[in-house]
Amino acid sequence: MNTLSELITKEMKAAFGAAGYDTSYAKVTLSNRPDLCEYQCNGAMAAAKAYHKAPFMIAEDVVVHLQESACFSLAEAVKPGFINLKLKPEYVAAFLQQMAEDEHLGVELEKMPRTIMVDYGGPNVAKPLHVGHLRSAIIGESVKRIMRYKGNQVTGDIHLGDWGYQMGLIITELEKRKPELPYFDENFTGEYPEEAPFTIGELEEIYPTASAYAKNHEEYREKALHATYLLQNGHRGYRAVWNHIMRISVADLKKNYQSLNVEFDLWKGEADVQKYIPDMVQRLKDEGFAHYDEGALVVDVCEADDKKEVPPCMILKSDGAALYDTTDLATLVEREKLYQPDEVIYVVDKRQELHFVQVFRCAKKTGIVRPETKLSFLGFGTMNGKDGKPFKTREGGVMRLENLIQEIDDEMYKKIMDNRTVGEEEAKKTAQTVGLAAIKYGDLSNQASKDYIFDVDRFTSFEGNTGPYILYTIVRIKSILAKYVENGQKESGQRESNQIEGLRLRAAENEFEKALMLEVARFNEVLDIVYEEIAPHKICAYIYDVANTFNKFYHETKILSETDEEKRAGYIALLVLTKKVLTTCIDLLGFEAPERM
Ligand code: ARG
Repeated sequence: MNTLSELITKEMKAAFGAAGYDTSYAKVTLSNRPDLCEYQCNGAMAAAKAYHKAPFMIAEDVVVHLQESACFSLAEAVKPGFINLKLKPEYVAAFLQQMAEDEHLGVELEKMPRTIMVDYGGPNVAKPLHVGHLRSAIIGESVKRIMRYKGNQVTGDIHLGDWGYQMGLIITELEKRKPELPYFDENFTGEYPEEAPFTIGELEEIYPTASAYAKNHEEYREKALHATYLLQNGHRGYRAVWNHIMRISVADLKKNYQSLNVEFDLWKGEADVQKYIPDMVQRLKDEGFAHYDEGALVVDVCEADDKKEVPPCMILKSDGAALYDTTDLATLVEREKLYQPDEVIYVVDKRQELHFVQVFRCAKKTGIVRPETKLSFLGFGTMNGKDGKPFKTREGGVMRLENLIQEIDDEMYKKIMDNRTVGEEEAKKTAQTVGLAAIKYGDLSNQASKDYIFDVDRFTSFEGNTGPYILYTIVRIKSILAKYVENGQKESGQRESNQIEGLRLRAAENEFEKALMLEVARFNEVLDIVYEEIAPHKICAYIYDVANTFNKFYHETKILSETDEEKRAGYIALLVLTKKVLTTCIDLLGFEAPERM
């Protein structure tokens, strides 16, 4: 389905053409003077130079041809040469009717669906999840849903950090505490126990303890590094410990991500791709891409017009160990082998941008990916506290994700109980739903690449540009629709109820209704932009506008008490569609609305 702007532009083109002007001037935009008009065309201003004519005269020539249009109730030339446009209410209603009948609310699916992988989340196994990982999960989840909504084949991969030094630290600490375990007996040849020698609670304590200890004890650090090396080179007992760590941590991570409404299709990690490294390295050497530089194996990736220096991609350290670059390249080897993606989108802290520039260039240059494979880096900014510095706990430590979520949920619970419309049990559940919306909307409403301030008070407010305000609006619509159905049951005195699906949209009769209709009609246009630019924050801006316009309409209009039955049904049809637009949008952002709040 066309967007409203496309349809209007088509009309304008015909008018420019009929008046003898080039149709390329017929571009229409939303009005920046909503008090005067709904849409506007500034083409006459642009055409003035080419036609050596006053813009106002051109605008007048054009509007002559718009007076009979099926689309405009107003098309007027104003000084110095703008064309102000208002749409016929029937025209807007017909557009919305078509939208309501379309499964995708008027959004066109990709004609050539692409295979896209989204690499996001990226937690490090056995280290606590912290707020730094929150953004990747929230933004990545939304990006995945947006790409999918347009009809692409999209796979989300968590890309676990599961092969690093933290594993060596845990092994070393475990050996210190329980040296009698068979994993540390070099002569042990039997089966290792099935049960892990630690619980998730212990595991969470072991890592920070070991990490802190290693910082002050060189010998211990060396041991942990060596344990990492042995693990990576096939030590049987350490591999068994690693399997325990993985099983327990991944189960815990799954729980955590589930509570965030974040769902990965693939739970692959750095460890999974180590097997591709030897062949990959050999090929890079054989084909002359890699060379030794001070003992390290590197691939040059700088380009002539680089403004900043781009250092070589590091393939192997001088001791032969693989690095972060190596693992990401090997991951692309696997992705190419198993999935042949048309695009891979990485949702990672923007401070890692240089790493990805190096990896992308290296992968292209060496043929690890096909020349047409798009590799995209979606770097996000830092989440700061109210002091403008990276978010910390009150004690100054790194804030754990669970605690942060708890803090928001508690705040939401308090607010919901203050309203006292629901019981305690329901309030708890609702607090979680609304709390998640507060966090996600607070994050996603900022352009991803920017730093932002995490402000619990602002994010949990029911007023202003917040998640709870959006949910509150949806809940309000739900409750009106429920009452409409209920009233129908009462009137007919029995089971028969008012249908809310399939009612027809009617031409707006007042400005508030019209404003809401125009706002709802923008949905497919907004979604195309969001998709093109991979910009979830534009969904937030849009639904904030929709919510505001709806609430104005709600305050100015008697909906349920409207006595004209047809008119009332028309309002309900508009509410049903508004609700669909809002719920689709929040689903793309990765949260949902409760029934009541
Ligand atoms: N685990 C990494 C970190 O915590 C993020 C991984 C990002 N994805 C990637 N393919 N490198 O910094």
